[in-house]
Amino acid sequence: MNVTRVAALLAVLVSACKARKAEDLAEASSILVVSALRGTTEPCGCTSHPLGGLDRLAAKVGMHRAAGAGALLMVGDTYFEHATSADHARAQDEARASVISDVIERLGPAALVLGPADIARGRRQEQVPRTIELGGLTVALFQRAELDSKSCGALRAEIARAQADARVLLLGNETPSARVCESGADIVLVPGGEEARVPTVAAGALWIDAADRGRYLGQVVFHMGPPGPWTFYDEGKSARVTHDAKRERLRREIEALDDGPAKEARRAKLAVLEAASSTSEKPSGRYVTWKLEAIDRDVEPAGWATDALQGFNQSLCDITRAATRERTCERASSVADHFIGTGVCQGCHVEEMEVYRKSAHAHAWATLERASKSCDLTCVGCHSVGWERPGGYCRLDDVERFANVGCESCHGPGRGHAMNPTDRTGWSASFVRDPAVTTCVTCHNPQHSDTFDFATYRPRILGPGHGG
Ligand code: HEC
Ligand code: HEC
Ligand code: HEC
Ligand code: HEC
Repeated sequence: MNVTRVAALLAVLVSACKARKAEDLAEASSILVVSALRGTTEPCGCTSHPLGGLDRLAAKVGMHRAAGAGALLMVGDTYFEHATSADHARAQDEARASVISDVIERLGPAALVLGPADIARGRRQEQVPRTIELGGLTVALFQRAELDSKSCGALRAEIARAQADARVLLLGNETPSARVCESGADIVLVPGGEEARVPTVAAGALWIDAADRGRYLGQVVFHMGPPGPWTFYDEGKSARVTHDAKRERLRREIEALDDGPAKEARRAKLAVLEAASSTSEKPSGRYVTWKLEAIDRDVEPAGWATDALQGFNQSLCDITRAATRERTCERASSVADHFIGTGVCQGCHVEEMEVYRKSAHAHAWATLERASKSCDLTCVGCHSVGWERPGGYCRLDDVERFANVGCESCHGPGRGHAMNPTDRTGWSASFVRDPAVTTCVTCHNPQHSDTFDFATYRPRILGPGHGG
């Protein structure tokens, strides 16, 4: 085979692989980011678009790793949400932390910088590696539990000494004063919160998080170029947004103005803006891009992780029944204020019962059972009646009478009423005929019922025989 033929063959091969190569290259020089899992194994499934699930997150991480992604970095409270648990909840919280630990171990993050709750619960911070190699780049890693003006100087000195192409700081907790520290890091990974934030440049670094509870997987891609500082390039997304906003404002002003020089000036400006390309220029030097992927129901879960979560769920009843068995439940101030369960109301309210039986509330416990969650202490409160309420129940062994959202979830504790249905003076002061929206939202809060609207939801629980 002569040299030209080899070259020609190579050219064909190279062009065929080019598209794929660029993608592989991007994966190879990228880091995956999980910020603040907060002891979450899976979403409760209450909302219209549930996000998260360790098994789905694991699958997503696995896909990127198989495609060549360089490393997984994790920051913030991971195993626990709170620094302490109530006595009866401790065993469940520890069991959950332990299954999270198993899954994370298999995901093999290059670094995990714990949050304050994890540390308070006795989890030990491991030393993160000094550097990682990403597709020909040497990235130096730095870790801090927290960052403030006092600890800033030492960190700056440490970062200045490092020999690397890029410097990434992992923070276990973000205090208000952190973003003023000019540490010399190129990128700072911080724990995320409820809302996914757009990366921001502060104190010379790009601050990044991927929201919390494993609902998103973040990915930083390093794009090589001539040596120099890294810039953040969002592929023109924010430029488009501000351009669109500017154009919109000019159009409104033009519409509102009378003919004259002011209107003409704006017309001219608008013409210029409309002619200009709205995508911002790709930086000429080195830059990073950032991608946030939602872990939604379209992500096929990783079977091995689903098995681990199932194991945890199936162990829950033994754990929480035992842990709640000796609890002393809070008593109500009078006998009338006790919860008695839907079964007792049924005897006198046959018609209301018929309507109730067809509502989602009457199946709320089956929903938990289907999800192997009827012994999860974080679920039972809203899917049953009277949980941890004075005069209600607080031990899982006693749930039978209280399973499902019941009549008393809306009408209040009914013992006094049931004993004296015709003598209102004997009823609990919290027993009401027409419950208000404030009662609904104790359960229908935005995290668990994103589509809740009193005006549309209320008619759905009523009907002929029950307020219909
Ligand atoms: C022994 C029979 C009996 C039982 C048990 C009973 N009720 Fe009633 N309930 C009645 C009667 C009778 C009335 C009508 C009272 C009246 O209008 O004075 C009534 C009225 C009500 C009302 C309307 C109150 C009002 O202010 O007009 C509600 C709400 C209600 N019951 C809910 C319940 C719930 C919830 C339970 C179970 C915790 C329950 N009832 C158990 C007999 C009963
Ligand atoms: C104790 C907690 C609790 C209270 C209080 C409560 N709900 Fe619910 N509600 C639930 C749960 C849990 C479900 C889901 C049940 C299931 O499908 O498993 C639900 C479901 C519903 C649904 C069905 C939603 C659908 O997708 O069709 C409606 C409607 C509803 N609730 C209305 C109300 C209204 C109106 C109130 C107040 C008057 C109220 N709820 C009070 C817990 C509660
Ligand atoms: C703060 C109260 C609250 C807590 C805590 C809660 N839920 Fe719910 N859940 C609701 C409400 C309210 C709905 C109904 C939402 C709607 O339809 O608007 C619901 C609906 C659901 C649904 C959907 C039912 C259906 O048929 O559509 C599932 C599944 C569910 N919950 C499971 C769980 C699990 C598992 C947990 C614990 C991890 C949990 N919930 C904890 C209030 C709660
Ligand atoms: C999700 C909340 C909710 C649940 C659960 C619920 N109710 Fe009601 N109930 C209401 C509301 C709201 C009204 C007021 C209806 C009206 O005045 O139009 C009402 C009215 C009533 C009334 C008086 C008016 C009438 O038409 O009957 C009775 C009695 C009653 N409910 C009994 C019950 C019983 C018994 C159960 C359980 C089998 C039950 N309710 C479950 C919300 C609820």
